[in-house]
Amino acid sequence: MVHLFALNTCLLSLVVYALATPVRLVDPPRRPLVIWHGLGDSYASPGMLEFMQLIKDMHSGLFIHSVYLNEDLEEDQKAGFFGNVNEQLETVAGQLANVTELSKGFDAIGFSQGGQFLRAYVERYNTPPVNNLITFGSQHMGVSDLPACRRWDLVCQLARRAARGGVYTEWAQHNLVQAQYYRDPEQLETYLNSSTFLADVNNEVPESHNGTYADNLATLNALVLVLFAADKTVVPKESSWFGSYAPVNTSSAADEKTIVPMRLQPLYTHDWIGLRTLDESGRVVLETCDGEHMQLTDECWKPLVQRFVGEVLDDYVPGEAALRVQD
Ligand SMILES: *[C@@H]1O[C@H](CO)[C@@H](O)[C@H](O)[C@H]1NC(C)=O
Ligand SMILES: *[C@@H]1O[C@H](CO)[C@@H](O)[C@H](O)[C@H]1NC(C)=O
Ligand SMILES: *[C@@H]1O[C@H](CO)[C@@H](O)[C@H](O)[C@H]1NC(C)=O
Ligand SMILES: *[C@@H]1O[C@H](CO)[C@@H](O)[C@H](O)[C@H]1NC(C)=O
Repeated sequence: MVHLFALNTCLLSLVVYALATPVRLVDPPRRPLVIWHGLGDSYASPGMLEFMQLIKDMHSGLFIHSVYLNEDLEEDQKAGFFGNVNEQLETVAGQLANVTELSKGFDAIGFSQGGQFLRAYVERYNTPPVNNLITFGSQHMGVSDLPACRRWDLVCQLARRAARGGVYTEWAQHNLVQAQYYRDPEQLETYLNSSTFLADVNNEVPESHNGTYADNLATLNALVLVLFAADKTVVPKESSWFGSYAPVNTSSAADEKTIVPMRLQPLYTHDWIGLRTLDESGRVVLETCDGEHMQLTDECWKPLVQRFVGEVLDDYVPGEAALRVQD
């Protein structure tokens, strides 16, 4: 009896569901999305999977690719601390070029360090091209201090200890990910002549200036830079908006740390990376979210993902899409 009753209810709810659901043979094609996770995370952690599902709930049928350096979750997490960023980027560029769904371009979301890595992808590769790039709490002008580790995060602690040997040593610049975007305002000269990643993608070294970087970045439809108002992990937090500490003048007694904002940075005023071009045409969006580093509240991410992700593509031909569903 109970069984029957349950079965009946089940059938009934199926019928009701069918009636209540608007007729929609197929979701409209949307511009796909690529996400690059942050430090200490992996491409398919529970948090990342949840976030991707929430985005799909918002934009039905959206294709999402989560960037990985290793299919093994633990190894992928480790690659956020140890590795050569330039080589990692090349791997990821190959990975993205290989995904059929992305072949016509995509929007991208970078969490924390994933944000400056995706920007570097745009500058150096951008095939397939990025349309909108949103970075959450990223370190576009580097960090002046290493992020603190969680208590039991041994990989993080190992990386931090290794960095004490010197962030600008050749070994660190090829093996410690955070060292490769460490920008020390007290040792700018050393940073410029030894940084293998950040000084290069920021085109801060006159001798190795690469015009392609600026041309590519300037093709973005929008660059959305999100800063977390109470960020204590990224030092200085203004790095998320291309801010940095002013170079320290050793002959001056004042040691108060002042922030050079984006529009006063030499890389901006000289338009070394196309940032000024983007900004002057209204394509740089500066956003603030409340809270500590990567505290992704609904109020923080939802309006941005609504506005900059999942656009229905104009070349949508209903007949064509319906055909795809049949096979
Ligand atoms: C691209 O995909 C092919 C076929 O699956 C695979 O053999 C190749 O290694 C992939 N290349 C990259 C760079 O991931
Ligand atoms: C500039 O960057 C592009 C894209 O990464 C690269 O193909 C090119 O070789 C670089 N040019 C120089 C002079 O390094
Ligand atoms: C890099 O800059 C530092 C500080 O100015 C200097 O001591 C060092 O000799 C430079 N190294 C190279 C390889 O130019
Ligand atoms: C450093 O500070 C001194 C004293 O305030 C000043 O005379 C000098 O011009 C400053 N140098 C730079 C490079 O800003």
